[in-house]
Amino acid sequence: MPHEVQGVVALAKGEPVTVETILVPDPGPGEALVRVQACGVCHTDLHYREGGINDDFPFLLGHEAAGVVESVGSDVSGLTAGDYVILNWRAVDGQCRACQRGEPWYCFNTHNATQKMTLTDGTELSAALGIGAFAEKTLVAAGQCTKVDERARPEVAGLLGCGVMAGFGAAVNTGKIGRGQSIAVIGCGGVGIAAIAGARIAGATTIIAVDIDSRKLATAAGMGATHTVNSVETDPVEAIKELTGGNGADVVVEAVGRPETYKQAFYARDLAGTLVQVGVPTPDMTIELPLIELFGRGGALKSSWYGDCLPSRDFPMLIDLYLQGRFDLDAFVSETIGIGDIEAAFEKMHRGEVLRSVVVL
Ligand SMILES: NC(=O)c1ccc[n+]([C@@H]2O[C@H](COP(=O)([O-])OP(=O)(O)OC[C@H]3O[C@@H](n4cnc5c(N)ncnc54)[C@H](O)[C@@H]3O)[C@@H](O)[C@H]2O)c1
Ligand SMILES: [Zn+2]
Ligand SMILES: [Zn+2]
Repeated sequence: MPHEVQGVVALAKGEPVTVETILVPDPGPGEALVRVQACGVCHTDLHYREGGINDDFPFLLGHEAAGVVESVGSDVSGLTAGDYVILNWRAVDGQCRACQRGEPWYCFNTHNATQKMTLTDGTELSAALGIGAFAEKTLVAAGQCTKVDERARPEVAGLLGCGVMAGFGAAVNTGKIGRGQSIAVIGCGGVGIAAIAGARIAGATTIIAVDIDSRKLATAAGMGATHTVNSVETDPVEAIKELTGGNGADVVVEAVGRPETYKQAFYARDLAGTLVQVGVPTPDMTIELPLIELFGRGGALKSSWYGDCLPSRDFPMLIDLYLQGRFDLDAFVSETIGIGDIEAAFEKMHRGEVLRSVVVL
């Protein structure tokens, strides 16, 4: 019998999201049914409802979640009812070319639940990032569940499921920021702030936060930024150079997803520096750069999917850092809201008032 629950659905491009009754199947082979306890509102949810990801409407939104496993499918091992888990959106297959060569964080064949969740009229829902967790229950692949210490409350644990992991990993895993190095982070929402926190934990000594909103810069300073740059008032490339002895930063993280900020990141690097693009652009965006500059500046231009994380390795580690008081995940939770408050949360995100609004179910 499918489970009838309430979920937040984007029915059509650009339309406000609505709370709908949805049907969630019992888990089949390889699947897990999860009772969602909390789910953060990420900018990517807004991208979905604006049609910026693809046109597979209707979407069941929400993908930054923690909860408790309610039941598992027939052939699932290592996961049982009652397990406290963070949901991840890249369950690796262990078989593809990337996994075979020992780089599973690039897995080219990540998987989700096989069965579809639907509206009551049978219309199949596209679950955001294969999760769909603005719902009381959701169906995922068992590999999308990572068990963590239950002393971390769901509001903070869930944040590791997307934005915080993506930002932390962009700096630490993809950018490989290390002791004594310099980093600039352009865009200080949940993702960028997590990159700043990661850089501090990794030992970076110059951590420059760039944003167009001074409130975000104040938060960044509290989370480890050693310098802040308001790029409305100041040319960020010049400012980053000035703060790094005229050279540029060893690593620049672009956490906005726009051509102009990508260009800033490109030019704000030191010679042979690394650019990490973690912000997600929309399909219409393009950039033009002089080829001679690409060659002459050297270094690496990388993109970071999910912070190049391995959930089984990284989620428990970050929860441990949190429980030890070394990673302030509580600071990311600006407010807790109900399932009917997503549109208001999108507006607050747009106005820059929140790092994360977290739906508590
Ligand atoms: N690569 C991944 O795996 C991954 C995962 C999660 C989110 N993301 C993406 O990361 C990006 C950031 O997500 P978020 O949840 O932090 O969003 P957010 O809306 O909370 O934060 C964006 C920040 O960028 C700032 N900003 C906007 N325009 C700017 C500009 N021109 N210059 C400097 N700062 C500017 C805003 O003031 C805001 O602080 C989004 O594109 C999101 O889709 C990527
Ligand atoms: Zn793989
Ligand atoms: Zn996200």
